[in-house]
Amino acid sequence: MSSQIIPVEPFDYVVFGGTGDLAERKLLPALYHRQLAGQLTDPTRIIGASRTVMTDAEYRQFAVDALKEHVKGDYDDAEVQKFTEKLFYVAVDAKSEQGWDDLKTMLDEAKERVRAFYLAVAPAIFGDIADKIQAHDLITDTTRIVVEKPIGRDLESATMLNNTIGRVFREEQIFRIDHYLGKETVQNLMALRFANALYEPLWNSAHIDHVQLTVAESVGLESRAGYYDKAGALRDMVQNHILQLLCLVAMEVPPSMNAEAVRDEKLKVLRALKPITPANVEKMTVRGQYRAGASSGGAVRGYLDELEGGVSNTETFVAIKAEINNWRWAGVPFYIRTGKRMAERMSEIVITFKPIPHSIFDEGAGRIAQNQLVIRLQPDEGVKQSLMIKDPGPGGMRLRNVSLDMSFAEAFAARNADAYERLLLDVIRNNQTLFMRRDEVEAAWQWVDPILKAWEETGQAVQGYTAGTWGPSQSIALIERDGRTWHEND
Ligand code: BG6
Repeated sequence: MSSQIIPVEPFDYVVFGGTGDLAERKLLPALYHRQLAGQLTDPTRIIGASRTVMTDAEYRQFAVDALKEHVKGDYDDAEVQKFTEKLFYVAVDAKSEQGWDDLKTMLDEAKERVRAFYLAVAPAIFGDIADKIQAHDLITDTTRIVVEKPIGRDLESATMLNNTIGRVFREEQIFRIDHYLGKETVQNLMALRFANALYEPLWNSAHIDHVQLTVAESVGLESRAGYYDKAGALRDMVQNHILQLLCLVAMEVPPSMNAEAVRDEKLKVLRALKPITPANVEKMTVRGQYRAGASSGGAVRGYLDELEGGVSNTETFVAIKAEINNWRWAGVPFYIRTGKRMAERMSEIVITFKPIPHSIFDEGAGRIAQNQLVIRLQPDEGVKQSLMIKDPGPGGMRLRNVSLDMSFAEAFAARNADAYERLLLDVIRNNQTLFMRRDEVEAAWQWVDPILKAWEETGQAVQGYTAGTWGPSQSIALIERDGRTWHEND
């Protein structure tokens, strides 16, 4: 069983940063997979744009190399040939006039087509590119612009960046990507909540004890020290991906899947997050930094050894006890944790229900565990619901905690599409549901900024943790203080 493929009308996708890392690892492979699925119709064009001078043929070769490396088993000579025929290249410089007339000539050949500009470049030049697009009259009625995180490093810089883009594009033309929203299981969260009668009546503080959100990575700095050391885990993962997940878990039922309806509800959650202050920051948050250890089967260096200069107070791990000030969630903590170089790559949302109010079983029946719903984002996407049952067989009533466990890969035998595949085409289809609206980004910063400030003000130190573990012991203490434990996979 697989989802229905609906071809999209021909479009022009201009990828600024077309020879960069994101284009190579994610964008070209994602578009190629859509080609394989039969979704790209001729005469679609994907136009790489960057400062490097290169011919179309050279760009096509760049794409072939990228696909060989990144689509592995799905590489098919005939399909790659058809895909590369859609690729073009233009050398443009965001800071000068170089190349813009060529781009205009190219795009003007098909003014009626949906046109998307993807800014896979440093945010510092978003403004230059937007201005040039406007100055060269490249915006048609069906033009969209796509931007990637980081959208600022605090509320002030995010607002400035949003203003810069907003001077040229209307909000409904701006697609802010958070690739976590494109992940299969993240959307499944909405299906679980809103397409089943079972969960929604229980989805509140009367029945839910607490929620855990874990996004653990086994990778370290990779080659991103320049960016990462200035960002840290809170800005890099929590401000965007994790808060978006939290919103989808916590939001009220939107009236429809319409983009504004969903985003209105997410915004309300962000605005209801209880502020963290210098007075409680140490109790509510843990900052960690990995030390040398073992990860992915080999010895790895510590964070500081990977950095030039070897000195940094940047957190590569963060745990937070978040609270939402509204009727639905009063008294239900949302424990968040994310980090680099953790024990394994594993992301999940765990909903723990309240204990039963009274047990009718005698002690010999064993402990009655609280029901848990585990939504696994990666790897091995799926859903697991734990239930107490009677241990089969004669000999009295003994209770056992078992799981109804569904792995999507096994259940549907479908390839798990990368988030970018869905998101890139949602831009063409003009569907904003899985993109962040300006006010959401700013509201997320409004909650994150005071945490950053409180850390600075109180001088909260990073706690070392050995690479290949689940983070510093203070993270365990954060949840155990409340009589709870982090969910462990069996
Ligand atoms: C990015 C972060 O947004 O998400 C990276 O900048 C992180 O630091 C990545 O590694 C994680 O994405 P995924 O899809 O691999 O979980």
